[in-house]
Amino acid sequence: MNSANDKPNISIPVHIIPEQKPLIGKGGFGTVRLDTNITDVATKEIPINASNPMLTYIEPCISRYLNHPNIIKINDILSCNGNIQMKQELGSMNADTYIRTKEFNITILRKWIYQLLSALDYLHDRCIIHGDVKIENLIIMPNTTLKLCDFGLSCKKQWKKNPKAYTSTHRAPEVWNSTVWDEKADVWALGCTVYELCSGTQLISPVGIQPNQQEKMCRERYKLIKDRVQALQVPDEIKQFILSCTDILPSYRPSIKQLLSTNVPLKDDYSSFNMTQDEYNHIQNRCLLIKEGNYTGEILRIAAKSYSNLRDLNKGDPTPFIDVALYVASSIVLRREPTELLFNSSVKAQADIFLSLINYDIDI
Ligand SMILES: Nc1ncnc2c1ncn2[C@@H]1O[C@H](COP(=O)(O)OP(=O)(O)O)[C@@H](O)[C@H]1O
Ligand SMILES: [Mg+2]
Repeated sequence: MNSANDKPNISIPVHIIPEQKPLIGKGGFGTVRLDTNITDVATKEIPINASNPMLTYIEPCISRYLNHPNIIKINDILSCNGNIQMKQELGSMNADTYIRTKEFNITILRKWIYQLLSALDYLHDRCIIHGDVKIENLIIMPNTTLKLCDFGLSCKKQWKKNPKAYTSTHRAPEVWNSTVWDEKADVWALGCTVYELCSGTQLISPVGIQPNQQEKMCRERYKLIKDRVQALQVPDEIKQFILSCTDILPSYRPSIKQLLSTNVPLKDDYSSFNMTQDEYNHIQNRCLLIKEGNYTGEILRIAAKSYSNLRDLNKGDPTPFIDVALYVASSIVLRREPTELLFNSSVKAQADIFLSLINYDIDI
């Protein structure tokens, strides 16, 4: 048996090599890696900002309690080696990679516009401004659902604003050098983002812009917006959508709620609801009779979805289901029966049955 003295007198250097998890993405602030210990989890590591540590905590504080189907869900927040680690649900890729590598079409575009509006509406209702809307911050899930991520530049409506929020190419005119802008800056960045989804290029091209003349050059390029948008090969209502979002005056830009209600991204999108153009037009015309402008888009969406579910669940003439679907949609969105439309007792009875079912297994 060897005694301690018999040990050879050599020292073996021991380096503990930290396990490097596979890199998923890297932005201006954090590094996102695949969590190999748990499936379907991405870990975003944010280094503590040495000059202003408070800034590091904004993203975890704002995003932690958000709960919306089109916003990346944060599962856990840890502190590790002086950095913050945010464990979040894992997506397939960002929208920039998706449009360059996968089959992308107008139906997906309309769906994404709607989902992004829905996420921003949720935030604005809670007085949260995202502050960095762009295609790299849109995560696409395996089923092509879009989820907004990256709250590193977010703020509350009542806070003093950061004049350097947003990527410079997506920064609204009123944000440059100002601490008093509002959620309409998200609407501007949304317009730039939708343009990029349509064309694969940036509305305000960063090419040739020197850091010291960023503001001047971007302002020069605002003059090109109209021509660039008109040259897009997309339906007119999408061009109008982008142009309304990129109005130079924030007060002339629509709010996210107005954009949702004007139906622009949903117009003619009957194919995604698995119905004919005639069926969709019929539902849309009935919806327009309900004089609740702000909610028409949402009533139409739920009514169309409910109608296609009802038609699939039942045999026979589907026409009566249009009224049932409208009744269902308006009771969900308006929390009342739409008094502008007359429904008979059979419609109400069927709607009640359907409403009790959707709590269980029908996704609307
Ligand atoms: N949950 C996620 N699932 C998949 N990829 C992600 C996820 N979160 C971020 N990414 C990828 O990592 C990139 C950087 O993440 P992001 O949160 O935007 O960090 P930063 O604040 O540094 O910009 C994104 O553009 C995206 O490609
Ligand atoms: Mg980012």
